[in-house]
Amino acid sequence: MFEIDFLGMKIKNPLMLTEGPLSGNEEFILKAAQADLGLIFTKGIRPEPILSPTPYLGIYDTSLMNGDWSCIGYEAWKGVFSRIGGDVPLVASIAKNYVTPETAADMAAGLQKAGARIISLVDYNPQELIKAVSLARPRIKVPLMVKLPPFLPNLEEVLRGLVHAGVDAIAAMDSIGPVLSIDTETGAPLLGSADGSGYLSGKYILPVTLKYIYEIARFVNVPVVGVGGVTDGDSAVQMMMAGATGVGMVTEPMISGLKVFGDVMDEIKNLFERRGFRTLEEIRGLTLRRNTERSISELYKADIDPEKCIDCGICAEICYSNAIDKMEGVHKADHGICTGCGLCAGVCPVKAIKYILI
Ligand SMILES: Cc1cc2nc3c(=O)[nH]c(=O)nc-3n(C[C@H](O)[C@H](O)[C@H](O)COP(=O)(O)O)c2cc1C
Repeated sequence: MFEIDFLGMKIKNPLMLTEGPLSGNEEFILKAAQADLGLIFTKGIRPEPILSPTPYLGIYDTSLMNGDWSCIGYEAWKGVFSRIGGDVPLVASIAKNYVTPETAADMAAGLQKAGARIISLVDYNPQELIKAVSLARPRIKVPLMVKLPPFLPNLEEVLRGLVHAGVDAIAAMDSIGPVLSIDTETGAPLLGSADGSGYLSGKYILPVTLKYIYEIARFVNVPVVGVGGVTDGDSAVQMMMAGATGVGMVTEPMISGLKVFGDVMDEIKNLFERRGFRTLEEIRGLTLRRNTERSISELYKADIDPEKCIDCGICAEICYSNAIDKMEGVHKADHGICTGCGLCAGVCPVKAIKYILI
C-alpha cells in the first residue's frame, strides 16, 4: 500500500532521510537503513574531507539551527558506494555549491561508477544547478535529481531550465538561512561558525516548504520530494497533499531518534484508515484539486457547534472584534460582528468552531 517506485527504485515507503549528520558516513547509513524509511540521501559530498567549527548544532525551540558542512570527502564516499551502494537505497548527494558545474559532472560520473543508483545535486544558486544538470546528464545513466534552496523569486524559470536540462526529480528544500540566534547571557552567537550564523530547519519551516512544494508540483511532471519541517504523520500527509511523491526528514530524527520514521508511518496509516484513503495517489496533490473546488469569499463566519463546545470561553477571550458571547447558556458568534478571521477555530481545544458561508 505504501511502497512506491521512485526513479526506478522500489522503495518500501515514501519517507526519506535527506542530507545531514545521520547519513554522514557508512556506519551511520547502515544504522539509518534499519529505520522504517524508503530512501537515504548521503550528507552533501564535497571534494575534500572537512570538519565544521563547533558547536555546529543549536536547538532553537522546536527547531534546529546548524552550521554543519562537514564531509568525509569524495574519495571516501566512492568507497562507501562501492561497498554498500547496491544494498542500501542510497542517493549520492553532491554539494554542488563547493565545486564548478564541470567538477560536479565529473563527481557524478565517478559516483555512478562506484555504484550510486541515483545522483542529486544541491546548490543555493539555481543557474549553477541548471548548468551542472546539463553537463552531468549526458555523462550518467542513473537518474539525476536536484535539491533547491528556499525562496526562489523566479521559480518557474528555474524549473523550466532544470526540466529542459534533463532533471529526473526535484527535492525542496534546503534549510533556510543564513539565520542568527544569540545567547543573552553572554551576547555571543549560538553557533561556532565564523560569523556565528547558521541555517534553520525543522518544524518552523514547514509552511514555507508546503507552499514551495505546492508550486513546484503543479508546474513539473517529474517526482517531487518535500523536505523541510516534517515532524509527524500529519505534516508528512500535508506534504503529499501539496504534491510530494517522497517526504524527507532530517531535524526530527536528529531530535527524536530514527524511530520517528516508524512513528510517522504509523500515524500515516491511522490517518488513511480514519479518512478511508487506500492509495498514496489519492492524496498526492489533493490540495490543488480542493483549492480549485472551494469558493473563495469574505463571507465565511464562525459557527460554534453547541454539541462539541465545552464552554471554556477561550474563543470569546481572544476574539478581538468581540463577536463571541455566551448567549442562552452557550457560546455563539454574532455573524453581524464576526469578521471571519479564523483565529477562534485555531484556538478551540475541541475543534467546535467551523467557518460557514452565510
Ligand atoms: C545538521 C544538518 C546538516 C545538514 N547538512 C546538509 C548537507 O550536507 N547537504 C544538504 O543538501 N542539506 C543538508 N541539510 C539540510 C537537510 O537535508 C534538509 O534539507 C533541511 O534540514 C530541511 O529538512 P528538516 O526540516 O527535516 O531538517 C542539513 C540539515 C541539518 C539540520
